[in-house]
Amino acid sequence: MSQHPVRFVQRGQSWEVEVEDGESLLEISRMCGAPVQTLCNGIASCIQCKVRVLEGSENLSEPASLEKDRIGNIFHITGERLACQAKVHGEVVVEVLPVRLPKRDRRPRVPPPRKRRER
Ligand code: FES
Repeated sequence: MSQHPVRFVQRGQSWEVEVEDGESLLEISRMCGAPVQTLCNGIASCIQCKVRVLEGSENLSEPASLEKDRIGNIFHITGERLACQAKVHGEVVVEVLPVRLPKRDRRPRVPPPRKRRER
């Protein structure tokens, strides 16, 4: 089976590895230690694993409807893909994007009043 070079880059750092055909970018990031994040463990629900394809987009699997639902149809313009869904079939270079966590609720949390014990 053929091996493909895959490189992840982020803020001047880079991680490179040779992989078998058909591995997902998320699996590959775990092999080489690239900091691709996940909360859903690769089931396309958290969108934390977004990467931007810099080279070799033609060497990735086409986005399925589930991935298109998550990232929108502008992936052709943004170059973004979900690492957990994109399978590698050739040489690829991707940028690991920063994680965008949901905004925290800033209202102070007030604990519920304690119930008095009746004797
Ligand atoms: S790992 Fe959660 S959407 Fe990809």
